[in-house]
Amino acid sequence: MIHDFTFCHPTKIYFGKKALENLPAELNNYGKNILLVYGKNSIKKNGLYDRIMEMLRAAGKNVVELSGINSNPRYTQLLEGARLVRENNVDLILAVGGGSVIDCSKGISAAAYCEGDPWERYYVNQEPVTNKVVPVASVLTMAGTASEMNSGSVITNEEQKLKLGRVYDLEMMSPRFSILNPEYTYTVPKIQMISGIADVFSHLMEQYFGGEDDCTSDYLLEGVMLSLINASRKALINPEDYEARSNIMWCATMGLNKILALSKEQDWEVHMIEHQLGAYTDCPHGVGLAIISPAYYRYIYTYGLPKFVRYAQNVWKVDGKGMTDEEIALEGIRRLESFFRELGIPATLREVGATEEMLPLIAKSTIPGGGYRQMEAADILEVLKACY
Ligand code: NZQ
Ligand code: ZN
Repeated sequence: MIHDFTFCHPTKIYFGKKALENLPAELNNYGKNILLVYGKNSIKKNGLYDRIMEMLRAAGKNVVELSGINSNPRYTQLLEGARLVRENNVDLILAVGGGSVIDCSKGISAAAYCEGDPWERYYVNQEPVTNKVVPVASVLTMAGTASEMNSGSVITNEEQKLKLGRVYDLEMMSPRFSILNPEYTYTVPKIQMISGIADVFSHLMEQYFGGEDDCTSDYLLEGVMLSLINASRKALINPEDYEARSNIMWCATMGLNKILALSKEQDWEVHMIEHQLGAYTDCPHGVGLAIISPAYYRYIYTYGLPKFVRYAQNVWKVDGKGMTDEEIALEGIRRLESFFRELGIPATLREVGATEEMLPLIAKSTIPGGGYRQMEAADILEVLKACY
């Protein structure tokens, strides 16, 4: 753990079948005015909306609703929420849904009392937030992003064709509490379930593929990858396998709650590319990541060869006898790709609606970066072509 760190996590987690029973006691800690944020209609269909509304009413709260948050939430929705917060003097933003709903709620919190244009200030220019923010809490319904226990907020500006992420200050913007009942994820459509799994896998790998030091976080990341592979295979066979769904849910939360990133050099280039793919195609976030990842890792693996060999051996159990290091590393990437196929994730960008004309536009608008290898727009275009 050679890189110094300071760490304090503000999110209280309630996990399990009875987690929602803790909501009334938590509500006592906040004022009367609640902004309830949710997506299209899944929580109305599965009865969660009614249960939560009943608890809010019993606690004597005034509830204002913002519904219809898109997968890949829109900036216009964030502005609408910010207006509701101001007009109703909201004391708590309660997000009920997946990453999109929680991300949007954090954006609303930062934007409500912002002077000037929150998009320019907080997403484009990444300015620190000095205005008043409203506490956010969540009831999670889908496993993937870890937005329930981090301060990330990814917003799409449709007009500008930009999907930008902002990692707000953890203590300021991470949910005050999050309620995680794995049973809620049973009704998640299969494409979203596998997208969530791929998202978690990508978070783990983006934190793993960086640095050459011997770091405890890497061992933990390998362990969570193993658990995720195991649980995903079981959930694929039986989506109502509680043990498997609960493991996936916790892998997801651990995947990006910052604990596994401590003291780690990281590489978030796959996410940067996917965000722009999402801005052009609106494809599910994890599906885009699963298509790009193998192509990206084949493009960079020789620059971080020892880590790719370790990954192949420790995560995918590549025996390696009689193989060169390059062959072992490539076999690890091949097994990753075949795991994504096993889940049923499409293999090419074409299948998620990307056109050949989009590729240079996506490459040019992606924030360049990288880890073992510095990426420029021309490199990103090569990666996109390789998985088109
Ligand atoms: O809108 P509803 O009807 O609720 O349906 C949603 C939505 O269509 C559905 N769903 C969720 N829970 C369900 C359910 N359907 C049935 N039963 C349930 N229990 O699933 C669909 C997808 O939901 P969404 O919230 O969009 O998915 P996800 O959690 O994958 O979030 C994706 C967003 O998070 C961002 C992504 O870029 C994307 O915009 N990310 C956020 C991060 C963070 N905060 O740190 C990091 C990630 O890397 C990611 O970038
Ligand atoms: Zn992600």
